[in-house]
Amino acid sequence: MVLLPPEARQQSQQILYSLFQLSLVTHNLSAIVDGGGVPTTLDGPFKPVTVPLDQSFRAVDLPDTDPLVQRTVQGFQPEQISLSLSVSHDSVWISWITGEFQIGDNIEPLDPETVASIVQYGRLGRSMRHNATGYSIVYSQLYPFEGLQNYTSGIIHHVRLTGLRPNTLYQYQCGDPSLSAMSDVHYFRTMPVSGPKSYPSRIAVVGDLGLTYNTTSTVDHMTSNHPDLILLVGDVSYANLYLTNGTGADCSSCSFSNTPIHETYQPRWDYWGRYMQPLISSVPVMVIEGNHEIEEQAENQTFVAYSSQFAFPSEESGSSSTFYYSFNAGGIHFIMLGAYISYDKSGDQYRWLERDLASVDREVTPWLIATWHAPWYSTYGAHYREAECMRVEMEDLLYKYGIDIVFNGHVHAYERSNRVYNYTLNPCGPVYITVGDGGNREKMAITHADEPGQCPEPSTTPDDYM
Ligand SMILES: [Fe+2]
Repeated sequence: MVLLPPEARQQSQQILYSLFQLSLVTHNLSAIVDGGGVPTTLDGPFKPVTVPLDQSFRAVDLPDTDPLVQRTVQGFQPEQISLSLSVSHDSVWISWITGEFQIGDNIEPLDPETVASIVQYGRLGRSMRHNATGYSIVYSQLYPFEGLQNYTSGIIHHVRLTGLRPNTLYQYQCGDPSLSAMSDVHYFRTMPVSGPKSYPSRIAVVGDLGLTYNTTSTVDHMTSNHPDLILLVGDVSYANLYLTNGTGADCSSCSFSNTPIHETYQPRWDYWGRYMQPLISSVPVMVIEGNHEIEEQAENQTFVAYSSQFAFPSEESGSSSTFYYSFNAGGIHFIMLGAYISYDKSGDQYRWLERDLASVDREVTPWLIATWHAPWYSTYGAHYREAECMRVEMEDLLYKYGIDIVFNGHVHAYERSNRVYNYTLNPCGPVYITVGDGGNREKMAITHADEPGQCPEPSTTPDDYM
């Protein structure tokens, strides 16, 4: 169904076409599968289309005084409630935070053992008679330098619900009933059972979201389109555009050059979790790391907030890392790859990917979709070929297994390619879609690498960290 014979497709020299769009892209995959009026990739190759940037958008962060980011609960009442999927329809993760974060010179981490991690749940219209228990953690972001403030989080809870029915509405409360600290009732719908004619109706895909007034425009758009699932392809809170004293900047490389380490202001993560709760406490969000999640701190620790804030189906999908994992949503197998951890052919991620791809049954999940943060194919000058080394290592493997679509972020624009493999139109290559225009406070990508004088020197383009 997905991969038609090569002779059914045309090729041309025109590889990429693009258009700007400041809000998210909502992909109705079932419509694409059915062809319902949406052009298929077989109708291409398409000619380039570029839409000018709408200058009316506001890439300005919500301030910490905004009611949308302030703490509204008391004591150990849950806040920042979110939902993510496990590997199949019968299981989901519920996450939340209790207690207040601390920031300053003298901070004492909370004891995770002081509050239980319990979800009471049941099908809609029935009692919430099921109980699930999980685990809790506290993370710290430490800067052992004069004048920099340390941070320690509230207690972060992750609970996995199992034995759920497919495509079914559930209601739940989370918290600690022994402390009378339970949340309001929230609702979610499970994914449909996996099969070739069984799909979530709408999946929102967004990258580089941040927490600006543009972000609120994107999230309003997402919410009004009632997605069943959200993919967030990296760069989440942009806490690393701030010093530990809360002073912000508009890009990560253009300021604060005098600090001894790239600082962050971790309360931005709490603000993000509070702002997002109304949407992601009922719609599962699947996150993969971006460069803004690196957040280096003492003892060379990185990605600590990212790995702590979200629940990932890593263990369930045979991964030993929060940086890469996979899951099914109806007839789609999603592969979430880490661009900021080893992708070498000899590394753990590559070997996991080989195993995961080999285990996919295309009779059950005909669609195979991969995401990671930094795009392999992009026509923009910004981040041009930064991920070229990852492409060299992994593209053949993805091509061998016939990946249908790749979603990336990082480049702050929307762009969609024809089917490509190794820089050449190829009917069996994936379509690459970049959605890095989620709304963060950094600049939009506008200049293309093929404009006169704009092509970066190739030896300078790979990202140092990667
Ligand atoms: Fe990025």
